[in-house]
Amino acid sequence: MQPIAEQIQDLKEELNAVILAHNYQRCEIQQMADFVGDSLGLSQQAVKQDADVIVFCGVDFMAESAAILSPDKTVLLPVKEAHCPMSAMAEAPALREAKAKHPDAAVVCYVNSSAAVKAESDICCTSSNAVEVVNSLDADEILFVPDMNLGNYVSRFTDKKIITWEGHCPVHHQMVAEDILLAKHEHPDAEVLVHPECRAEVIDLADAALSTSGILKHVSESSSLEFIIGTENGMLCGLEAQNPDKMFYIASPFAVCVNMKMITPSILLESMEEMKHVVTVPEDLRTKAKLALDRMLAVV
Ligand code: 13P
Ligand code: SF4
Repeated sequence: MQPIAEQIQDLKEELNAVILAHNYQRCEIQQMADFVGDSLGLSQQAVKQDADVIVFCGVDFMAESAAILSPDKTVLLPVKEAHCPMSAMAEAPALREAKAKHPDAAVVCYVNSSAAVKAESDICCTSSNAVEVVNSLDADEILFVPDMNLGNYVSRFTDKKIITWEGHCPVHHQMVAEDILLAKHEHPDAEVLVHPECRAEVIDLADAALSTSGILKHVSESSSLEFIIGTENGMLCGLEAQNPDKMFYIASPFAVCVNMKMITPSILLESMEEMKHVVTVPEDLRTKAKLALDRMLAVV
């Protein structure tokens, strides 16, 4: 029997497919991917890939964004149940009510949201461009959905009034200041890098708050030899592979996104063999959501 990696490689050629994987995916999936990145990088790749099929190793909103941006390609999400719980914390009817309460506010939605929420928004953002996106807008008030931690983080870098939503990422939100203080005590020479989905008390103790690819870039350019990483622990795969001379310590053993870990090599293979699960977005929602994504891609 041919090894799984070879079968996947053969199928990629047969289908003219490309495999995109998020930085939180299992190590073995990251190693099989054509492109590994953060939400912004993966959206950009979804647009520019000259492939018939995009196999998205990530969670639902990521595959959905690829389907919104590239309707001419078949987008596969190997595990249908790979949902992002934060994305489910904002729904379109509630957003419409909030918009009615704040008629002068521009709506900025984090890409970790459904197509229906994107369709109700003026512009999307990711963790790597949220500050630039907010500051690119004329409005003085911003309704920021669904991540309150990212919204609060952005408010540090803008004069605009940020109205936050009650959403959060459970993986990042469970991390508290005590976790960072303990890790700093154990590794006093380490730089502390966290994700802006973390609570303000965690960001306050960090040397930098960066997107997942921002963390990878920062580490490769830093002269430090030790790092405390305050984000989902799948990050250590890329960090350790790209920086064999540096040491990495996780800020919290509980920072594991089970949704990001659902795809295994055999599930990826099966998805390509059986062309499942195809992600589609109804055309009326897709065109509206695409506007919000296109506006974001024009800013960064
Ligand atoms: P980025 O990779 O864009 O930083 O996003 C983190 C995340 O939580 C994705 O689910
Ligand atoms: Fe959603 Fe958080 Fe998992 Fe990212 S890490 S997919 S934001 S739950």
